[in-house]
Amino acid sequence: MARDLPLIERSGTVGWSCPSNIALIKYWGKKPGQLPMNPSLSLTLQEARTTTTIDYSYAPGKKGMSFRFRFEGKEAPAFGERIRRYLENIKAQLPVLSRTDLDIESGNSFPHSSGIASSASAMAALALCLVELEAEVSGSMDSERFWQKGSRLARLGSGSAARSVFPQFALWGQSPQWEGSSDEFAIPVEGFHGTFLNLRDSILVVDSKPKKISSSAGHSLMGTHPFGKVRFQQARENLEFLHSALVEGDWQDFIRIIEEEALTLHAMMMTSRPGYLLMQPGTLSILQLIREYREETGCRLGFTLDAGANVHLLHADADALEVEEFIRSELLGFCEDGRVIRDKMGQGPLKYGR
Ligand code: DP6
Repeated sequence: MARDLPLIERSGTVGWSCPSNIALIKYWGKKPGQLPMNPSLSLTLQEARTTTTIDYSYAPGKKGMSFRFRFEGKEAPAFGERIRRYLENIKAQLPVLSRTDLDIESGNSFPHSSGIASSASAMAALALCLVELEAEVSGSMDSERFWQKGSRLARLGSGSAARSVFPQFALWGQSPQWEGSSDEFAIPVEGFHGTFLNLRDSILVVDSKPKKISSSAGHSLMGTHPFGKVRFQQARENLEFLHSALVEGDWQDFIRIIEEEALTLHAMMMTSRPGYLLMQPGTLSILQLIREYREETGCRLGFTLDAGANVHLLHADADALEVEEFIRSELLGFCEDGRVIRDKMGQGPLKYGR
């Protein structure tokens, strides 16, 4: 039997619900070991979530790990295979896994084909369940270590998932002005101006189909990208500027930086070798209309983009009615079946019992 493993059998259920997040400073490009080329900063969402529960059974004498995975009540072989590889990959960091049977059940709060990336919320929820399982089997774990290990293990599943274990804003990546920041896990960031603590995110669904080029393929193209070095430096500078804007409550700078980050992300995709386009004509129309509306009305709203065609329209809670009317009258026509997902800044993971 491996040394240092608990000697007592234990079985139980652990469950976590984790939100998705949208990056304001983008992670695009990584090094081996799932480490980012630059720090990123994200807004945690509230409504778009994955809930995962694991029924487990640990016995010190078991030979190997077994697992079963179901997504929304059904077997899901493709995701199951990804989880199998993930569990193999993290076994060294969670030794109890090698003596445990896992029955994993997962589901999303948002429709599967909504164009909302689910890997961040899914891998974060799975990682928190696994850290909780380890804590139950082996005794206890202090709170800081729990969140740090959760974020570290989430990162190994999907880089952006590292940020989904914290409320409001999270920073992932070593960065001199942030004490405690690391490439290996995200940290929660606080102290921002009240004007940014009730942000809303109206997600304009231009295209709900899964994207043709995965984020992992996109990240790997950054290794030889002609503008890679400049981009990684730009992200570091933008992080500093965004930090100041968030602390000072400066909407103008906030909007300027998040839109630059969104457009740079897509510029990197377009100018990769080979290059590719994820924006659609409807995406561009929406971006133009947002800028025109802002110029005409002075309304505090700006956009960001994920690795896809959908537009995240960020605005203050106080302007929700006005923005809703703008969406209805000018933007809805560019959305697939008129779909908009209404989300907002969120309060982070929830422990889930059953
Ligand atoms: C554009 O985290 O999905 O959303 O680490 O390969 O799983 P992997 O990639 P992923 O990349 C997300 C990229 C992004 C920007 C961001 O979330 O920072």
